[in-house]
Amino acid sequence: MSVNLKFGTDGEPSIVAEGSYLWDAARRVGMRLPAECGGTGQCDTCAVVVNEGMNLLSPLTEAERKHLNAERLAMNERLACQVKIERAGDLTVTPVPVLERDETTEETVDDFRRNFRKLSLDKKFRALAEFEVVTAYQALNAIAGVPSYIGGKIVEVLAGRGRTLDARERDARRPADHEANVTDANVNTDEAFNK
Ligand code: FES
Repeated sequence: MSVNLKFGTDGEPSIVAEGSYLWDAARRVGMRLPAECGGTGQCDTCAVVVNEGMNLLSPLTEAERKHLNAERLAMNERLACQVKIERAGDLTVTPVPVLERDETTEETVDDFRRNFRKLSLDKKFRALAEFEVVTAYQALNAIAGVPSYIGGKIVEVLAGRGRTLDARERDARRPADHEANVTDANVNTDEAFNK
């Protein structure tokens, strides 16, 4: 008897070795499941739903109990890196979509890149202003592939512009009848410092 592993109920079955871990078996048949923590049971990015063949698999590990809540366990989710295929038979699993599990770093960067491209210029400035200059440069580099000798300068300018926009926006949101008080408060504070 062998293990017939399928991805999705319409998938083609592939034969994998009994005794292998599900994540490894998947990779051997060309299905690369995400593994943000490197298969150490510290995330949930490798989660799959077991559609068929739960009885072929090793019992839940501590890591699975920690990262999959009761609802997810009830839906037959398992962490592929934690699951050993202990018995032969038909096994069908479906990777858990990213909306229902943590994103990997790569997915987060991709999302950021995609969303950043859609932002208006002002919002781009603002997004960059939220980073420290060094990280902003790294972010910009990841997004646009800007060469290092110009990237740092651009980011300094962008971050400065973004901060100015934020300050202006904050001022514009303040109630008009507070303006006099703000000035008074500033005067009072200045006086307090001068004493
Ligand atoms: S890869 Fe992180 S728990 Fe499986």
